[in-house]
Amino acid sequence: MIFESTSENIENAAAIIKAGGLVSFPTETVYGLGGNALDPKAVARIFEAKARPSFDPLITHIADLEMLDKVAEIKDKKIYDIIEKFWPGSLTLIVPKKDIIPHIVTSGLETMAVRMPDHPTALQLIKSSTGAVAAPSANPFGYLSPTTAKHVEEPLGDKIDMILDGGTCRIGVESTVLDVTGKIPIILRPGGISFEDLQSVIHDVEIFNRTTTSPTAPGQLKMHYSPVKPLHIVDSINIVKDREKSGALVFKDGSDTSGFKSVEILSPAGDPVEAAARLFVALHNLDKSGIDQIYAEKIPETGLGRAVMDRIYKASEK
Ligand code: TXA
Ligand code: MG
Repeated sequence: MIFESTSENIENAAAIIKAGGLVSFPTETVYGLGGNALDPKAVARIFEAKARPSFDPLITHIADLEMLDKVAEIKDKKIYDIIEKFWPGSLTLIVPKKDIIPHIVTSGLETMAVRMPDHPTALQLIKSSTGAVAAPSANPFGYLSPTTAKHVEEPLGDKIDMILDGGTCRIGVESTVLDVTGKIPIILRPGGISFEDLQSVIHDVEIFNRTTTSPTAPGQLKMHYSPVKPLHIVDSINIVKDREKSGALVFKDGSDTSGFKSVEILSPAGDPVEAAARLFVALHNLDKSGIDQIYAEKIPETGLGRAVMDRIYKASEK
C-alpha cells in the first residue's frame, strides 16, 4: 500500500490519477490526498474517502504556470509577482476559476484555491498525470493532518489506491491560504509561509480575524486538526497539576514536565520553524500514548508560531 517515491512508482501513481483513482502523496507541508481536479467523479471520491463535507472546497495543485492559465483567471500582474516569489512553495492563492475546474472542487464557488507544491515527488506526479491534482490533506475530516505516510495509512489506507512515501514533511503545517480576489490580500489560514514573509513582498496584507469576522468562505471552521483526546491550552506547562494520565505538549526545553505520562517537546532550542515541522507528529504520538488528555503550552505567535498556534487553538475546540 505504501510505496517508495521512485520514479517508476510515481509514474504508476500518475496512471492511477489519470484513470480516476486516488493517490496520497508527500508535499513539503503535509501529505495530500490527490485525484484528477478536472474529473468530478474523482473529486467526489476524495470527499467520500475523507468524509469531508461538500461545502469545504479543495486546493488544486499544479506544476507549471501554463496550467495556472488554463484553470484560473489572473488579471492582476501583482499576483504574478507573488507567485514568482513564493512558488513552488507553501502558499495557496484564492483566485477566480475558469470553467475547466468543476464546481465540486470549489464547493460551488466561482473562486478556487491553487498552489504549486515545493516537493519533487508531488511535482512529478502532477506533471505526469493531468497537470491539475485536487488534494486536501490526507486525513479523515477534522482529524490531525498527516506528516508521514504511516499517518495516512492507518485511517485511510483501505479507502485509497496508493500512498507514495516521501518521509516526514519538511514544513509540517499546511500552506498559507491567501485570498487575492479583493483589493487587499487577506490571509485566510496561517501556514508554511509566514505573515512576516508575505509582508516583505506585499506590504498591505491582512490577517483574517476569526474572532471578529464571520467566515467568508467555507472551511474556516473553528474546530479542526483535532486529536481524539481532549486538548487544553495553558500559558505554561509548569502550572498543570493533573499529570499522571496526561500528555504534555511543550514548546522548548526548560519546562517542568515531571510526572506526565508522555511528553513531546516541539523544539528544544525554541525555534518556531522546527516546532511547526514537529507539531503533527507530536500530536499523533500524544494521541496514541494512552493518556486521557493533552495539555499544550502556548508558543509565541511570530513567524511559523502563528500557524502552530492556529492549529493548537483549533485542536482545543470541541
Ligand atoms: O499544505 C496544504 O495546503 C495541503 C497540501 C496537501 O497541499 N492541503 C490542504 O488542503 O491543507 P485542505 O483541503 O486541508 O485545506 C484547504 C483549505 C481549506 O481551509 C479550504 O476551505 C480553503 O483551503 N479553500 C479552498 N478553496 C477555497 C476558496 N475558493 N475560497 C476560500 N478558501 C478556500
Ligand atoms: Mg486539511
